[in-house]
Amino acid sequence: MPHNLNVVLLEPEIPSNTGSIGRLCLATQSTLHLVEPLGFEITDSRLKRAGLDYWQYLNVVRHADWDAFLKTLPAGAPCVFFSKKAQRHYFEHRFAPGSYLIFGKETLGLPEDLIQQHAETAVRIPQYDDRVRSLNLSNAVSIAVYEAIRQLGV
Ligand SMILES: C[S@@+](CC[C@H](N)C(=O)[O-])C[C@H]1O[C@@H](n2cnc3c(N)ncnc32)[C@H](O)[C@@H]1O
Repeated sequence: MPHNLNVVLLEPEIPSNTGSIGRLCLATQSTLHLVEPLGFEITDSRLKRAGLDYWQYLNVVRHADWDAFLKTLPAGAPCVFFSKKAQRHYFEHRFAPGSYLIFGKETLGLPEDLIQQHAETAVRIPQYDDRVRSLNLSNAVSIAVYEAIRQLGV
C-alpha cells in the first residue's frame, strides 16, 4: 500500500477498542503495534467480539515496553503523537508514507513529557464541546488513519 501506516497503541486498556482498531488496521493494511503492558489478554472474549475473527490475518507486533518499541523504529521514521493537549491540529500535519501514528491509553492518554518532547509532531483532533473530555481511542485512530490515507493516496 502507498501509505504503509503503523498504528501504535501505548498500553491499551480496553479490549474492545483494540479489537476495533485491529479490524481497522487490517482493512487499511496498516501494521498494529501494541506496547505492553496491555490491560487485557489478547484472547479476551470482548476483543474476540470486536475483531479477533480477523486477528490471524493482522500484522501485529507486540513490544515489551516503550523503550523496546523505540529500538525497533527505523532511523528517521516519521512519528505523529496524538493528544487532545497538542497545540497543532491534525489538519495541518503532512503525513508521510510509513508514518507511526502513536496513541495513548484510555485512562491517562500519552505521558505529558512525551508530548512536550515531540511538540512539533504532536497533533490534536479538534473538539467543540468542553464537556467531552476526549474522543474514544478507536474513533481517534480511525480519524487519523483515514486522514493519512486521504493525503497519501489509496
Ligand atoms: C480516551 S483518550 C485518553 C484521554 C486521557 N484522559 C487524556 O487526557 O489524554 C485515548 C487516546 O485517544 C487519542 N485521542 C483522544 N481524543 C483525542 C483528540 N481530541 N485529539 C488527539 N488525540 C485524541 C489520544 O491518543 C489519547 O491518548
